[in-house]
Amino acid sequence: MAAALFVSRRPVAVMRDHLATLPGAPAEEALTGRTPADRPDPGPMLCSCFGVGVNTILSAIETRGLMSVEAVGAALQAGTNCGSCRSGIAALLDRAQHREAAE
Ligand code: FES
Repeated sequence: MAAALFVSRRPVAVMRDHLATLPGAPAEEALTGRTPADRPDPGPMLCSCFGVGVNTILSAIETRGLMSVEAVGAALQAGTNCGSCRSGIAALLDRAQHREAAE
């Protein structure tokens, strides 16, 4: 597969980050425009330097108990290069900690 074009009268729920990983992959994987059910959905890309998505970071925060941007960087590398995603990671940490406090 060299390219994919999704056309609809209404917005299509296509995961652009997932599609970007597909050149060279079987066409069947591209047809849904979504991550296959047997693979975790990394979510929208937050750290483009290391290709780490929002869902991957949130999952690591919850399952590994990460409490700081530095801890996320140590676990996933996210935020350890250019640093432009560090504020986004901090926002995810804040969101996760507020959600935990509310439960
Ligand atoms: S975008 Fe995350 S370190 Fe550069």
